[in-house]
Amino acid sequence: MLKTICDSHCESCSAVSRREILKGAGKAAVGVVAAAAVTSFAMIPKARASAQYPWPHKNIDPQQAGNIAYENWYKDYCCYATVSGVLVPLQKSVGEPYSSLPLEAFRFGHGGTVGWGTLCGTLLGAGIAASFVAGKTGEKITNDVIAWYTTTELPIYRPASPKAAISNVNKSDSPLCHVSVSKWMEKEGVEFFTPQRKERCARLSADVAMKTATLLNEWAAGTYKPVHGSQAKTHNRPAQNNCDGCHG
Ligand code: HEC
Repeated sequence: MLKTICDSHCESCSAVSRREILKGAGKAAVGVVAAAAVTSFAMIPKARASAQYPWPHKNIDPQQAGNIAYENWYKDYCCYATVSGVLVPLQKSVGEPYSSLPLEAFRFGHGGTVGWGTLCGTLLGAGIAASFVAGKTGEKITNDVIAWYTTTELPIYRPASPKAAISNVNKSDSPLCHVSVSKWMEKEGVEFFTPQRKERCARLSADVAMKTATLLNEWAAGTYKPVHGSQAKTHNRPAQNNCDGCHG
């Protein structure tokens, strides 16, 4: 039983060799360890036990990613919306291991992480999705997505059937939810708990999902070239670029 389990490609299992367990402590201890191992490994679903990180990529239609993100914002907000915009198409085209990933787990990123106004949930979502698909290169993609987000007039996405009408676009100059959404609300002349603000964040989720999907497609095609440099190296500390926004 234990042999079958340990012969599957599970790293933590090979770290403790079966022989060491068996010739180690007394029989009672062996029994406990073996029972624990059987229980914990048996509980890992097949797809997860065999998933190699990063996961496979197939071309993602950016428009489809945008449409899914826009609709899903109204279900579980920005972070979930962006992750699902990128990964739902892969759940459909690739299947496992994507189809076993409960995307609702990324809901917590809303409002700059449960309302604390830190990193915009769409950017957290972009990072999560890019990491699953592109591994370490996902960091470069996320870096470029954040740089683009802070310097672009958003939202760009136009839903086929909008849930609310909005007039303004805004360049955030910051990756922070608080700064980004506050500047836009000021411009639009609306409060946070309004249909307009919701619509803005839903469209913005679509924009970020589309951008992330586009860069992932380029990466898979071998044409992706990171454009934005290291923030930490540029400023000699982890930092945003809008120093004056806080230090002014
Ligand atoms: C989101 C707001 C914010 C942004 C943007 C920001 N900082 Fe800061 N920074 C702070 C806060 C808050 C402190 C802590 C200040 C304190 O308590 O004295 C700090 C501290 C510092 C300090 C050390 C203490 C001091 O006040 O001298 C330096 C140096 C610094 N920041 C440089 C920068 C630079 C350079 C940038 C842009 C590349 C930047 N910061 C962007 C908020 C920010």
